[in-house]
Amino acid sequence: MTKTVLITGGGIGIGRATAHAFGAAGYHVVVTDVLPDEGAAVVAEVQAAGGTAEFHLLDVRSTEQANAVVAAVEAKHGAIDCIVANAGIAHKVPLEELTDEKWDFTHDIDLKGMLKVIRPALPAMRAKGTGAIVCISSIMGIAYGWDQHVAYSAAKSGVIGLIRGLAVELAREGIRVNGIAPGYIRTAQLLNEKHSLGAAGADKAHEIIPMGRIGQADDIADVVLFLASHAARYMTGQVLVVDGGLLVGRY
Ligand SMILES: NC(=O)c1ccc[n+]([C@@H]2O[C@H](COP(=O)([O-])OP(=O)(O)OC[C@H]3O[C@@H](n4cnc5c(N)ncnc54)[C@H](O)[C@@H]3O)[C@@H](O)[C@H]2O)c1
Repeated sequence: MTKTVLITGGGIGIGRATAHAFGAAGYHVVVTDVLPDEGAAVVAEVQAAGGTAEFHLLDVRSTEQANAVVAAVEAKHGAIDCIVANAGIAHKVPLEELTDEKWDFTHDIDLKGMLKVIRPALPAMRAKGTGAIVCISSIMGIAYGWDQHVAYSAAKSGVIGLIRGLAVELAREGIRVNGIAPGYIRTAQLLNEKHSLGAAGADKAHEIIPMGRIGQADDIADVVLFLASHAARYMTGQVLVVDGGLLVGRY
């Protein structure tokens, strides 16, 4: 039977590449995002490549939307086999401007948004006795502190705790929970001039990356697919760093 994957933030970047990878691997791909045009385009791309896909508008900050989208997908396809909790933002906020609202905004999307989408899918996954969850953290959550991005670093570290806690609680029910900590990946998030490296920074990043190139979205997508697959059947609670050697190469 065809497996189903639900991807948050699937309209662009790493989420889009993940949709392509799972579509090519024979999954039915549920693309979700706050970007309807981009999401619809990804669905068309997956279909054009011979796969099947559908789009649902989903702001991961909304419990109601998450519950409704998961229920709609389950009504059509049964238990979701894999959730890729990918949606995220990285806003640059100096400490003196870090209000409760800005702190909460990042946590609502980058950390709490993951649980909101995973939670409603668990009863059917548990009943089926199988499932894989992959959460996207960051090197800024597992190893680095990112100045002027304290909320992002904190939320992405929180994702690692989320992965570990869920993994242990769900391990005996056949549901594996793992994550990825990407390094520098060329996407809209990283190319943002205000909030991240920007185009010039992206073009220089290869200088500090041992493998000599910045990452591409599909470098992450292929590892997401691995973590979801039978090949990773004895892995749970782990966070794989996918960074071209950046962390081990800085000393
Ligand atoms: N690009 C990098 O270098 C890098 C490094 C480490 C981690 N990450 C993480 O990878 C994930 C994907 O990021 P990306 O680089 O592809 O960035 P991106 O900006 O290209 O994509 C982010 C996606 O999240 C979606 N999104 C934003 N707010 C949302 C919300 N409230 N509800 C639902 N979707 C929402 C966006 O619409 C977009 O589709 C993020 O969690 C990001 O933090 C990226």
